Amino acid sequence: MVKIKVDLEKRSYDILVGTDILSDLGKFIESQKWGKEIVIVTDPLVNDLYGDALRKGLKNFRVHTLEVARGERYKNLKVAQDLYNSLVKHSVHRDAAIIVLGGGVIGDLAGFIAATYMRGINCIQVPTTLLAQVDASIGGKTGVNHPKCKNLIGSFYQPVLVYIDIKTLTTLPAREIRTGLAEVVKYGVICDADFFKFLEENAHHLNTKAFESPDTLRAALKVWQIIVAESAKIKAKVVEKDETESNLRMILNFGHTVGHALESLTKYKTYNHGEAVSIGMVAAARIANCMGMLKADPVARIENLLEKLGLPTQIDGLASAKIIKALGIDKKVAAGKVRFVLPEKIGSVVISDKVPPKIIRCVLKEMGSK
Ligand SMILES: NC(=O)c1ccc[n+]([C@@H]2O[C@H](COP(=O)([O-])OP(=O)(O)OC[C@H]3O[C@@H](n4cnc5c(N)ncnc54)[C@H](O)[C@@H]3O)[C@@H](O)[C@H]2O)c1
Repeated sequence: MVKIKVDLEKRSYDILVGTDILSDLGKFIESQKWGKEIVIVTDPLVNDLYGDALRKGLKNFRVHTLEVARGERYKNLKVAQDLYNSLVKHSVHRDAAIIVLGGGVIGDLAGFIAATYMRGINCIQVPTTLLAQVDASIGGKTGVNHPKCKNLIGSFYQPVLVYIDIKTLTTLPAREIRTGLAEVVKYGVICDADFFKFLEENAHHLNTKAFESPDTLRAALKVWQIIVAESAKIKAKVVEKDETESNLRMILNFGHTVGHALESLTKYKTYNHGEAVSIGMVAAARIANCMGMLKADPVARIENLLEKLGLPTQIDGLASAKIIKALGIDKKVAAGKVRFVLPEKIGSVVISDKVPPKIIRCVLKEMGSK
């Protein structure tokens, strides 16, 4: 098991990464003396797949399992209200802990419940998608969507533990694996050239085919454990330096400027988040190249790796004028300027709000927009 500390003084916590470890979580919680009552918040599919393994280790606790329907549209205040009602109905006390078992949607929603129920109860994140393991479960961003805007209502509330079982990746659909991989590649580009190289060398393990035979599964799980642990380490370091996303944490938005514009323009239907970020990372790398900040070779390496991982690198026919307009309402706009995270080399990025619109337009066209 790999242990990574997120050092945030009084709000510090560990990220534990292992394979086939779900039923050991109970023992760990007992050793921490976090109370005798556990509320598992999950969705029906994840509960079917992993609920029993988790509950097996929780025999010494009073356990309630609350299910939330699957999907982003259930990350809202109405569902949050239903969850508060269930906690009240079960007379859940302040010293109970919530275990969040699921992807980033459940993580954000149930993390928000933990942050607000009785002004905050212990939250243990047990992420089961790649995106949640390498990103959403770490850093304490919790919240729900408003009908007019994603993630508008929420708070920073750190969990007491992030407990990652790599084995849960083996049941994920290929597209969910790919969306998480976009964030993994992002970490390599923003701050770790060696990690980027490791991804290039091991790209052949990073797909769901590798889970199909016992031999490739064993090798793949080893590689996945390294990748998830390294990604978690990078995210933890960034969070430690900038807990509430005022400055450094913005580098995590590499690829997200154009990515968010594509997502909102296509009403979150054409691309999932990772796919949009993948195209956004290529756009940012090409912009950096046009501005003379980044050589052509790293741009090609970024594109090649994303393609090898099955992620999109081209824009299919969307009008560049529409993308530019969508960029104008992107939440990363500072004082009327579009803010980009631009690589200077693999492993290092800078934040710039000085990208000339004509360069953005030219790059979007190069990438296949009309
Ligand atoms: N808090 C943060 O810092 C942060 C960061 C990034 C994203 N997010 C949020 O994360 C959410 C997206 O998360 P996501 O990509 O994990 O999607 P998700 O939570 O919707 O999960 C995707 C699907 O995978 C299923 N699933 C989960 N684990 C599985 C498993 N092991 N095997 C098979 N199926 C499984 C779920 O039932 C779900 O239908 C968004 O709401 C986004 O806003 C939050």
